[in-house]
This record gives sequence, C-alpha cells and structure tokens, in this order.
Amino acid sequence: MALLDRFKLTGKVALITGAGRGIGRGCALAFAEVGANVVCAARTEEQIEDTANQARSLGADAIAVRCDVNRRADLEQLLEATLRHFGRIDILVNNAGGTPPCEALYTSEKMFLEAFQFNVISAFVLTRLAVPQMLRTAGGGVILNISSAAGRFPLVGFVAYSTAKAALSHMTRVLGHEFAPKVRVNAIAVGATETSALIPFLNEDTRAKMEALTPMRRLGSVEDVALAALYLVSPASSWITGKVFEVDGGTESSNWPFPPPSL
Ligand SMILES: NC(=O)c1ccc[n+]([C@@H]2O[C@H](COP(=O)([O-])OP(=O)(O)OC[C@H]3O[C@@H](n4cnc5c(N)ncnc54)[C@H](OP(=O)(O)O)[C@@H]3O)[C@@H](O)[C@H]2O)c1
Repeated sequence: MALLDRFKLTGKVALITGAGRGIGRGCALAFAEVGANVVCAARTEEQIEDTANQARSLGADAIAVRCDVNRRADLEQLLEATLRHFGRIDILVNNAGGTPPCEALYTSEKMFLEAFQFNVISAFVLTRLAVPQMLRTAGGGVILNISSAAGRFPLVGFVAYSTAKAALSHMTRVLGHEFAPKVRVNAIAVGATETSALIPFLNEDTRAKMEALTPMRRLGSVEDVALAALYLVSPASSWITGKVFEVDGGTESSNWPFPPPSL
C-alpha cells in the first residue's frame, strides 16, 4: 500500500460530536474528503445538516443527528442512529466541550461539576457506549478526544475548564492502555483556534497579543486541527495510542493575554 493511502478512511464510519461548526465540522469534512462516512452530532439541526450536506458533496454518506452530549439518552440514541444507518462504527471523535472563563473565586461547585460533565464525563459515557459496538461491528476502532493546551499549562481564569481538560487528557492515556491493541485512544491538546468559541474574545488588540505570545505567530485554524485529527484516526497512526498530541502553534505557556485578578 502506498504510504499516502494510509491516511485514507475509505469505508470507515466516523461519529463526530460538536460537528455543527468549528473543529468538529472541520474534522467531519476532512474525514469525508478522504473517504469516510460521517455522523454529525450537535444540538443545532441546521448546522449539523449543513455539515452533513457538505460531507455528501465530498462523496460521503452522512447523517445529522441532534444530540446534547450532556444527556445520556441522547448519546444512546446517537449510537443507535449510527448503527441503524451504517451498521458499524470505526471512529469516534469526542469533540463537543468547552467552558467559558470564570475567576476561581467566582467559580461555583455547580459550574465545576458542569465543566466535568461536558468536557470529560460525556466523552467517557459515549466511549463506553461506542467501544463494544466498535468491537462487534468493526473488530476494533479509534477514539480521538479533543482536549486543550489549557489542560497542560496554567490558564488563568479557566480553572474549571482547564482542570476538566487535564482530566480528559489523562483519561485518554488510561483508556489507550486499557483498550489496546484493538481500540486506539488519543487526544489533541488544541491551542487557541479561530472558532465561534474564541472569536467573541478577539478584538484587534487581543489578537495581536495572542499572536505575539504564540511561537508560530498566528492563531490556529480549524484545518490545522482537522489535519492532525485525520492523522490520529487514520491507519497512518496505527502504532500510536494513549497519547496527547500538542497542536498549538508551539506554545509552552499561556497565550491568553489577560492578567490574573488581584486578590
Ligand atoms: N477554539 C479553541 O481555541 C479551542 C482550544 C482548545 C480546545 N478547544 C476544544 O475544541 C472543541 C471544539 O471547540 P470549538 O472551538 O470548535 O467550538 P465551537 O466552534 O463553539 O463549536 C462547538 C460545537 O459543539 C456543539 N455543542 C455545544 N454544546 C453541545 C452539547 N451540549 N452537545 C452536543 N454538541 C454541543 C456546538 O453546536 P450546538 O451549540 O448546536 O450544540 C458546535 O457544533 C471543544 O472541546 C473545545 O474545548 C477549542
């Protein structure tokens, strides 16, 4: 097999959460471009339908399934819809996640629990549901968790989010070992990337400061992350599991340009 063919996903079925926009949409379209059929999940129907339509225009079979990853029943239905339509599942991308910034002393227990529910527990529950079906329908599979650079170094003002993403990264390492060799589990620790989650914080000044604090001197694009995701879910990375890939423009410390609050 030509080496480049190992980046293809021909005939694979990939389920991507948070596929209506941003990184999840970028992953779904990248996978579709190299032959995967995709399940696009999120809450906003028009957005997931749009991603699914785009994937079809790239030659994929695609379905859009409304799902709130915080609801177990929705996750069960998501998997059922996938198996009903495609009869198999090969790839799961736990991408939906995110928690707005909040100073630690204003972060309630409820907010902390919600951050863990959305960023870690939802991914764990969907993984638990998907792995037996990957084994049954495809003999194995691949899981990719979309984590954050915030889980790797201190990001002031994001205690709930960054602690939850650190947990997601570590869950990746544990499950990578527990499910090897049949199911690979990896994560991407994503740095600041231009999506609807970040853009509201970006005025000209903030952007310039963030770019200056980023060794590659620019923010990430959805495609930067999707290309790394493609590698990690494709046979090209078949010897890699339990790892957290850093896709972040080279940052080794926070590029969030706001100072800590004075106590
Ligand atoms: N952008 C960054 O700088 C950055 C950096 C590090 C890590 N990340 C991580 O990358 C992932 C994707 O972020 P993004 O920047 O692409 O965000 P985004 O542009 O805001 O897109 C988020 C996607 O997730 C969906 N979503 C939100 N809540 C959901 C829920 N409860 N159930 C199902 N789907 C839900 C959204 O659709 P609906 O609202 O319609 O459901 C949307 O499709 C997140 O895990 C985030 O933490 C992002």
